Amino acid sequence: MFDKNILITGGAGFIGSHVVRLMVNQYPHYRMINFDALTYAGNLISLQDLESKDNYVFVKGDITSEQDVRQVFQQFHITHVIHLAAESHVDRSILDPMAFIKTNVLGTAQLLNAAQKHWQDDKAHLFYHVSTDEVFGALGAEGKFNEQTPYDPHSPYSASKASSDHLVRAYADTYQLPVVISNCSNNYGSHQFPEKLIPVIIQNIVDQKPLPVYGKGENVRDWLWVEDHARAIDCIFHNGQLGQTYCIGGNNEWKNIDLVHQLCKITDRLLGRAEGNAASRIQFVTDRKGHDFRYAIDASKLENQLNWHPTQDFEQALTQTVKWYLDNQEWLSSVKSGDYLRYYEANYQDRI
Ligand code: NAD
Ligand code: TYD
Repeated sequence: MFDKNILITGGAGFIGSHVVRLMVNQYPHYRMINFDALTYAGNLISLQDLESKDNYVFVKGDITSEQDVRQVFQQFHITHVIHLAAESHVDRSILDPMAFIKTNVLGTAQLLNAAQKHWQDDKAHLFYHVSTDEVFGALGAEGKFNEQTPYDPHSPYSASKASSDHLVRAYADTYQLPVVISNCSNNYGSHQFPEKLIPVIIQNIVDQKPLPVYGKGENVRDWLWVEDHARAIDCIFHNGQLGQTYCIGGNNEWKNIDLVHQLCKITDRLLGRAEGNAASRIQFVTDRKGHDFRYAIDASKLENQLNWHPTQDFEQALTQTVKWYLDNQEWLSSVKSGDYLRYYEANYQDRI
């Protein structure tokens, strides 16, 4: 018997795989049910080390399917949900917004509905919704997002995540569903699908291809090591107050162009290439439509109330991240072999 049966959606994706690994290893008395549709962004190679664990189960299923969701709730007597499954890439959301609305809005609604229906007893339950700082819109040169910042999403991705956050709060207010929400800044680390900035740049450096920087590279992101995000999720899952929202960030802002130069320096050094080799291939390409200028998080609520702090020195963790991609070329070619290449060939001819 397990203390909790935790449905973790999107556990085969980038952040989900880190959360699943942390929870399975740290809490043998919880059963983690990884529920994932295995879209282009999800794969089970990332979780091979957990296959023999007694407290880990994988279920292939789609959060937008009422039947799949009902079945997993019934079969595993789900007591808690950590919801990460989503379409997560802004550029894709610009090309195909409906896929984002379906997965992120409808999928979240299906899960909330199932939780509300199944949790009619007196037992302890929790619906933890993992969201993004992009729901708050874009900052100028000054200021940071916090839990009071009004929502102002701009891309179809961020608007779909904002909608899902609102639905979660609506179920809490209307049906007293026990919920928490966190809104996190950009993550980096191992196992990120190679379409987001950091793995794209590393891989293009390895392959001696142009390094695409949108616009002038002046946009700013606040980067958090994915394992620190997973620790924050663990901390909020156990100690967060019901109905509350927590902002998570690394206090680590970088202009895209400076970050790309940093990646060039680290990767050239690790590959034994001359300094400046990679940077010579930086190419400023057409800017993203509606490109948010700057994101930055004030995580003091989480730090002061729940005593979570980011642990990683950025230069060290970035070097460790580059090393992971260099050492795991097989993982990369395997996850890239499907939809990714067709999508890139169709939409980003100038970047490959
Ligand atoms: P990802 O794209 O790497 O992984 C998403 C996972 O969800 C994949 O395993 C995919 O197969 C699965 N999935 C997609 N549609 C599904 C469906 N219909 N049914 C079941 N599973 C489905 O995403 P990520 O970067 O790991 O992000 C995870 C969550 O964290 C998302 O909700 C995202 O909005 C949020 N988030 C991400 C970041 C970031 O920097 N990556 C920052 C803050 C918040
Ligand atoms: P991304 O990793 O897609 O995350 P998000 O859009 O969710 O912040 O992009 C990070 C930043 O890098 C963003 O400002 C867009 C920019 N970018 C590039 O300049 N080139 C690229 O090839 C990609 C994918 C992103």
